[in-house]
Amino acid sequence: MNMTEDAIVRAADILDRARCALVLTGAGISAESGIPTFRQAQTGLWEQFTPQDLATPEAFAQDPERVWAWYHWRRTLIARGGVNAGHRGLVELATRKTVALVTQNVDGLHQAAGSQHVIELHGNIWHERCTRCEHQHSAPVAESTDDALLLCPQCGAMTRPGVVWFGETLPAAALYDAQQALERADCVLVVGTSNRVYPAAAFVDSAVQSDTPVIEINPEATGVSSAVDCHVGASASLALPALVQALDALPGSR
Ligand code: OAD
Repeated sequence: MNMTEDAIVRAADILDRARCALVLTGAGISAESGIPTFRQAQTGLWEQFTPQDLATPEAFAQDPERVWAWYHWRRTLIARGGVNAGHRGLVELATRKTVALVTQNVDGLHQAAGSQHVIELHGNIWHERCTRCEHQHSAPVAESTDDALLLCPQCGAMTRPGVVWFGETLPAAALYDAQQALERADCVLVVGTSNRVYPAAAFVDSAVQSDTPVIEINPEATGVSSAVDCHVGASASLALPALVQALDALPGSR
């Protein structure tokens, strides 16, 4: 057994003992769909773009066309990329364990894969919110054919992407649901996040501090890797299906 296989077996053992797991995902789970992460050297979005120009209320007020063009581009990457084996692995996991899925991703790919009740901490790129009447609606998941700013179907004013920008607070309901899920969880599985953005990263910190077992799936080490109970140093699309298989292979499994 190599180190990764060994870590997956340990992770399956930890999950098997848990009644209820909180799964926290980040950009890394969608990386193998061809969607860039934020902080990876060279390819990360924040390596190529400045958040202050594209992901703040001030940037939108100053140049909404530019901001919308960037979101159209990201929508196109997501629509082209689609779901991968990592997203599908979490759907499978939820048929075997009670799982609360909390994501920092805005791409909607967990839902596209079939995950139910996804708690989205940073909003959803397919949602649009009117800047005048607050009307909200969802765009179909499809490649963007233009890069214009989008208008409200209700009142005709400009809409904004339904994502959380720097300097904004997280959606209160999602944060509340995630906190409740953390309280219920007796295991945390953290997948594909650098654990650098709060409050999402606080879920992992708090699990570590309260001795709740934490499994991390990430090909790189992060700031919490040395503190977690099991670090699986592999990609999500490899590790998650393997984790499900390992759970099924445990004695007494269905
Ligand atoms: P980051 O870009 O900060 O981190 C992505 C993590 O995914 C890194 O630790 C990578 O090592 C890991 N990774 C890369 N490929 C992977 C793979 N195939 N399988 C598993 N892991 C892989 O992205 P996030 O932690 O999600 O916020 O960033 C958090 C937030 O920062 C985002 O939600 C976004 C950004 O600013 C907002 O837009 C509000």
